[in-house]
Amino acid sequence: MAVYDIVKYPAVILRKKAKTVKDISSYQREFLDNMVETMYNDEVTVGLAAQQVNLDTKLIVIDARDEKGLIKLINPVIKHREGRLVVMEEGCMSLPGVTVNVIRSPKVVIEAKNERGQPINIEAEGFLARVLQHEIDHLNGKLIIDYLNPAKKALLAISYRLKNKSA
Ligand code: NI
Repeated sequence: MAVYDIVKYPAVILRKKAKTVKDISSYQREFLDNMVETMYNDEVTVGLAAQQVNLDTKLIVIDARDEKGLIKLINPVIKHREGRLVVMEEGCMSLPGVTVNVIRSPKVVIEAKNERGQPINIEAEGFLARVLQHEIDHLNGKLIIDYLNPAKKALLAISYRLKNKSA
């Protein structure tokens, strides 16, 4: 097992659409395990997408610290959204020091494959639903700052670049 370095904004890979996994091999399984180790290496992190550790492939790991526990998903897709949209502040390991109010569905149904290549469905609500949507956004090259209006986004990008230049 290994802890990967986290890719930070504005790295190009964070904007790429992740590729669909065709054959699930020991490589993907080992990569998922290392993603899990990387996620648990940071106490507050509840999810990670492959692009954040420099692989543009549809793999995510999540542990929303709830009864569903650790979830590893291959090729996850949102099949259904339900309920009145909810706003909540989110952060992201790839955008240190940044929080954004993000509007999301309170209930989702996800279709994916597990590590053995079997199709699975996950019905999630509340915080887990939010984390799943955040990580699937990553696979589509979308970040929390994309939920800001253009003026706020431009300002945030400038201050972020200044802060991270001096760091
Ligand atoms: Ni993130």
